[in-house]
Amino acid sequence: MTLVIDGKTVSVRTGGTILEAALSNGIYIPNLCYHENLRHTASCRLCMVRQEGKKGVVAACAVKAEEGMVIDSKDALAENVRKLSVDLMFKTHPSECTGCPKFGHCQFQSISQFVGDTGRRLRANPIRIAEDARNPIILHEMTRCILCGRCVRACEEMRGVGAIRFEKVQGRLQVVVDGNSLQDADCRFCSACVEVCPTGAIREHEAITQKMTGKSRTDALVPCRAACPAHID
Ligand code: FES
Repeated sequence: MTLVIDGKTVSVRTGGTILEAALSNGIYIPNLCYHENLRHTASCRLCMVRQEGKKGVVAACAVKAEEGMVIDSKDALAENVRKLSVDLMFKTHPSECTGCPKFGHCQFQSISQFVGDTGRRLRANPIRIAEDARNPIILHEMTRCILCGRCVRACEEMRGVGAIRFEKVQGRLQVVVDGNSLQDADCRFCSACVEVCPTGAIREHEAITQKMTGKSRTDALVPCRAACPAHID
């Protein structure tokens, strides 16, 4: 089927979403909670677009493309919602990126650069969660988590394990290990959570990456989608 996105006529398979139609045709719409191999949750609100003939904006990752649709991803309201979403994520995320091991290879960093100045209308209130580096392979630094849920879905849906899950801790949603440790939680150490994490929240210890690839983590990581104009090689 064919539709028009940002003035360009594109085609997509039947059942594909607006976001899939855009990305597969080289049109970048910011997205974070979306992952092509995972169930869509439309939780980050970054992929908002205007659909001609509809009131308000819709999440491009959650709406199926239809023949003849006309989509504007640069609509003012969509961009405003996107900026607000980035603000909401930065409210609890450390605002200083340079000290993060994923600096320069962080999808969230790239997207926030793409979205541009948000005006930071929300007062920053970074959460403090102690780093958990007890496991020799996978390290959790959940202060950097933006709650996209990709890690939880990857563990459940791709691996059928469920070693990590969402839980409310002191009134705030958080990704936690389903047990005292990853071993207790029956983690298989497949690193699916590491691969899908768009920030530095869940990552391998630097020494593991170097041993497996002969490269430092910075060299070895495959960063965010190449279609993104803010993509960093
Ligand atoms: Fe669509 Fe997150 S990518 S809401």
